[in-house]
Amino acid sequence: MMLEVRKLSAGYGRVQVLWDIDLSVGEREIVALVGPNGAGKTTLLRTLSGVIRMRGGTAEFRGRSLGDRSIEQIVDLGIAHVPEGRRLFAGLTVRANLLLGGWRTKNTDLDRVIELFPPLEPRLEQVAGSLSGGEQQMCAIARGLMSQPELMMIDELSLGLAPLIVDEILARLPDIAAAGTSVLLVEQDVDAALSVAERAYVLETGQVTLSGKAGVLLADKRIQESYLGIA
Ligand SMILES: Nc1ncnc2c1ncn2[C@@H]1O[C@H](COP(=O)(O)OP(=O)(O)OP(=O)(O)O)[C@@H](O)[C@H]1O
Ligand SMILES: [Mg+2]
Repeated sequence: MMLEVRKLSAGYGRVQVLWDIDLSVGEREIVALVGPNGAGKTTLLRTLSGVIRMRGGTAEFRGRSLGDRSIEQIVDLGIAHVPEGRRLFAGLTVRANLLLGGWRTKNTDLDRVIELFPPLEPRLEQVAGSLSGGEQQMCAIARGLMSQPELMMIDELSLGLAPLIVDEILARLPDIAAAGTSVLLVEQDVDAALSVAERAYVLETGQVTLSGKAGVLLADKRIQESYLGIA
């Protein structure tokens, strides 16, 4: 697999948050990571993108260890991270945000991301802070894609967005994956995440408690009771 995580542990200060995480993402694959608040989903993405150090275990991307690399080196390996809360440069235009996303890889071609997210085209000269929530998420994903990553990790895609917009954005993920960018999707909306992903992992209090094909998990009684509100 493209990304292979084995027995990874991580945390903050004296607090260990992640325990023995095993996870993988394949070529052109969409993998969902779901679980309750505080489970450690964001911490896992932050560890893989080099924001925090792993404390044990290994993570390899195309056979290369991520453990001792900086955030920039991990971007250069082909991993993009769309963080929780989107973190756009609110005072800069959409165009400038997108170009900054392509800066390290010298990609200035906006056509491809505009084609994926047409609502951004009339907004290119507008400052990102004035976009709607859905447009901001499109801009954040588009900015991540500008580095032409082979893996994109998206944290809380649906946060604060109306269901219709969430569906519109999720519907682009298969195209993104088919074009060569695998997606590791952290999502509170388990139903939506499992509907678009091929495989999924359930993370609870820092451990993977369930994993498998998304369709199988959707039909799993524990998932239905805990995450889908089906009694
Ligand atoms: N900077 C930090 N310093 C100390 N503890 C932290 C820090 N960030 C997160 N934590 C703790 O790590 C644990 C996991 O948090 P994390 O943000 O990874 O969870 P999450 O699964 O992303 O939750 P959510 O669904 O609410 O986004 C929580 O107990 C949290 O309090
Ligand atoms: Mg989180």
